[in-house]
Amino acid sequence: MSRNTLIKIASLILMVVSFIAYIAGASAFPIASENLLPWSAWFLISVIVNIILWSNVVKLLTFSLAVIWFYAFVAGLVPESSTAVNLTELDWSDPDAVAEQGALVFNGKGQCAACHTVDTSAPPGRCPDLTDIGVNAATRVPGMDAKAYLIESMYQPANFLVPGYGKIMPEVWKAPINLSKLEIEAVIAYLQSQGGEIDPTPFDEPIDRADIGTAAEALPPLLTGDPELGKKVFVDVACISCHAVTGIESPAAGEVNEEDFEVVTAPDLSEIAAFNDMRYLEESILLPGAQIVSGYGAVTVRAKGTTFQGTLVSQDTEKIVVRTKTADGTEEEHTILLTEIDDEPIEELTNLMARGYFTLTLTPIDADASVTGEIVSETDETVTLKVGDENRMFSKTDVKSQMTVITFDGDEIVGDHVSGTMDDYEIILIVDGSEEVFDTLDLDLDGTAMTRARGKKLLVTSPMPENFPLILTVADMTNLLSFLSTLTGATAEAVPEETTEAPAE
Ligand code: HEC
Ligand code: HEC
Repeated sequence: MSRNTLIKIASLILMVVSFIAYIAGASAFPIASENLLPWSAWFLISVIVNIILWSNVVKLLTFSLAVIWFYAFVAGLVPESSTAVNLTELDWSDPDAVAEQGALVFNGKGQCAACHTVDTSAPPGRCPDLTDIGVNAATRVPGMDAKAYLIESMYQPANFLVPGYGKIMPEVWKAPINLSKLEIEAVIAYLQSQGGEIDPTPFDEPIDRADIGTAAEALPPLLTGDPELGKKVFVDVACISCHAVTGIESPAAGEVNEEDFEVVTAPDLSEIAAFNDMRYLEESILLPGAQIVSGYGAVTVRAKGTTFQGTLVSQDTEKIVVRTKTADGTEEEHTILLTEIDDEPIEELTNLMARGYFTLTLTPIDADASVTGEIVSETDETVTLKVGDENRMFSKTDVKSQMTVITFDGDEIVGDHVSGTMDDYEIILIVDGSEEVFDTLDLDLDGTAMTRARGKKLLVTSPMPENFPLILTVADMTNLLSFLSTLTGATAEAVPEETTEAPAE
């Protein structure tokens, strides 16, 4: 046998063996790797050699095998997730295997991975990163254990919103995601495996599957506009100055816009409609502050005497990260512990939470010492603080207040307030234990300040202008929403056919 014949036969054998090994999913020699790439490489090398060396019959065989391999290879590339995973039972004797099935649901049918990352180095998005959710779940809602919290997150995500995130997560048991109970159990096992322990205890679904189609979801879309005109609105009213959209040219950096706002970093909207419904888009434009995309909110905080004004990059139960810009444009990130935020004097105890206060220090009228706690809830008359481990309710009116007055001689006097305001003839304060009466005519009006309490505050606002409802006509708005709803990230003509028979209003 000539050397040539030997090479020919060896190559033919290698091709057949690597083909069979590839299709059978065997692990590859010489590199005992789980993945099949080495076998593909052997296969392709032998295909080339065979095609060069052999005559027609073997060439044809080689070619047929190559075609079969190609289809198998392409099918292998499509992630397993998109081939429907059909869970019919879960084998809880092996919780890790259940978690693996959950991972498939997470990356596939559940569409979780479209919103969530499990990677702390990923840039912060609209949705929380789920690294360590297995442990963090137990810390979210006081009195709720990890499993109960995860169950609630799946069935009723809006019951508790992770601070800083909006009401975006769909109820995954409902259409269009439609996860079955088994799929949800598997996903929960997967979530618990992220840093925590898998708890196989069975649970009852907290919902009634008969409720799946609510009346609101059955309603037709609110508006039908013209996406092409909407695109023009998007550019004309300068949404494009802040928001990038694939396919639309953004104004050059530094170009002056005619609108009266400062251009800021804003979310890319190229895929905004993939995971948000029309109502969310509408709300984003009409009430930008209603739900602020995490990582984009504007904040001003005072900590240890310094004021930080910038973007709230992230927030957890202990600290916040604020990005500020110095005068020359360089960006700096500051990590600020919540405990480092300065207490500010509070004059009026109304709408504390809406104004961003999260802790409060006050002195009830019948107490000698002040009380400090986290604000849990409030009504017009009362505020509930978490003091130590217990929740205590305080009246907003029965608190000791301090008043600062400045006399025309320039003396600043601080005392416990007994009675009187600048509208009365006299103000009575207890200063250093004794009662003092001040004639309001002897006081500087601008120097009086009443402090009912002190508290730390973190107010996050949207940097997006609020005046679009005034600028946009109803027709503009309709067209704009139509345009935004085509932004699903799909490259093909995503513009849906509008029905011409829409009932005339
Ligand atoms: C359209 C985007 C979206 C999809 C799809 C989505 N989520 Fe969420 N998810 C969110 C947002 C936003 C939040 C934060 C607000 C909240 O608590 O509801 C959240 C919160 C959560 C939380 C609580 C996280 C925490 O830190 O406490 C869990 C757990 C969770 N999602 C799991 C899932 C799983 C599992 C799926 C898939 C079955 C999924 N999500 C699908 C957007 C999404
Ligand atoms: C000055 C810059 C600015 C302009 C102009 C602006 N936006 Fe925004 N927009 C933002 C910022 C910043 C956010 C993120 C903070 C928030 O959620 O409010 C945002 C959020 C949004 C969101 C929600 C995005 C998400 O990922 O959930 C939508 C939708 C949106 N804007 C649409 C528009 C449209 C439509 C226009 C024009 C009518 C517009 N914006 C004009 C800055 C801007």
